[in-house]
Amino acid sequence: MPDKDLTTLTIRRPDDWHLHLRDGNMLRAVLPETARHFGRAIIMPNLVPPVVTAEQASAYRDRIMAALPDGMQFEPLMTLYLTETTDPDDVRAAFENGIATAVKLYPAGATTNSASGVRDFEKVRSVLDTMAEIGMPLCVHGEVTDSNIDIFDREAVFIDKILKPLRKKVPDLKVVMEHVTTEDAVDYVRDNHKNLAATITTHHLIINRNHILAGGIKPHYYCLPVAKREAHRVALVQAAVSGDKRFFLGTDSAPHIDPNKLQTCGCAGIFTAPNTMSCLAEVFEAAGELKKLEAFASLNGPRFYGLPASEQTITLRKGDPLKYPTHIATEDGPVTVFDPGFDLHWHVEA
Ligand code: DOR
Ligand code: ZN
Repeated sequence: MPDKDLTTLTIRRPDDWHLHLRDGNMLRAVLPETARHFGRAIIMPNLVPPVVTAEQASAYRDRIMAALPDGMQFEPLMTLYLTETTDPDDVRAAFENGIATAVKLYPAGATTNSASGVRDFEKVRSVLDTMAEIGMPLCVHGEVTDSNIDIFDREAVFIDKILKPLRKKVPDLKVVMEHVTTEDAVDYVRDNHKNLAATITTHHLIINRNHILAGGIKPHYYCLPVAKREAHRVALVQAAVSGDKRFFLGTDSAPHIDPNKLQTCGCAGIFTAPNTMSCLAEVFEAAGELKKLEAFASLNGPRFYGLPASEQTITLRKGDPLKYPTHIATEDGPVTVFDPGFDLHWHVEA
């Protein structure tokens, strides 16, 4: 049956290869939204203070599992926040003991809670060499932080100035360029086959910079890297629906309570966990590639990470417009759910 005529689709249970769960009240409120549909997720370490050591990652993992409602299954894949004083032996032990799956690189100052990130890449060289040796992936927030560089150019400049030299110095390092937002990044990943992949978020497949800025400022569409012009969004959709094994889903679902989004200096982050799979089904259906959704959301990620694909399945069924909450409540305040700007017809049966 041609993809355009499909009304049900059963795929392996998806995983989210880039997720913010936070801690405390927020963690308890948002975790079920991901665990409902996803089997595993790579958990971002940008807490305050950040998750730097194996011991901290193990304790955070325990807090996540304690927050998981009874009857739900979910496996958090932990990451370590790379600092200039990270100990290579601690990283090695965390990986070899199954505590951490990857290390996260934030250039210092690039985004929310990234002040402890990396300024001088020579200072983390021994950690990167260790990771290359043991096959541990580096998840990269790929934006330069130089205030002289236009915010819309920061990803492309990062590729040229930081990523290319870094991959030349440590060619055996497995790198995930996270939440890519530009055609430049898509091309770079497509042209460089060895040890390189990229995650793409749900929202960057749907919004461009007009959604944020035209007709009034929309703080709930503000995230980092910021959405770019339409041609870049189109390149991201083409990469996602292509089935190319180097592109996979990392939602970057990043909850902030509304008071922290709606202020003079609002936080970056879009909360897509509740409706991500329905949004993606719309995107893949519109591209005529619904059957490729499984590769993007369920197969390509585990393949790159060297993990088995899920043995479980979910079914997406097309029907009347989905009703979903505009906000979810937390004990700290409401969190607004991503509004794709169109009706969602695909209902998830997990
Ligand atoms: O929009 C974003 N929000 N981008 C990031 O890189 C961090 C994240 C957050 O933690 O809120
Ligand atoms: Zn993120």
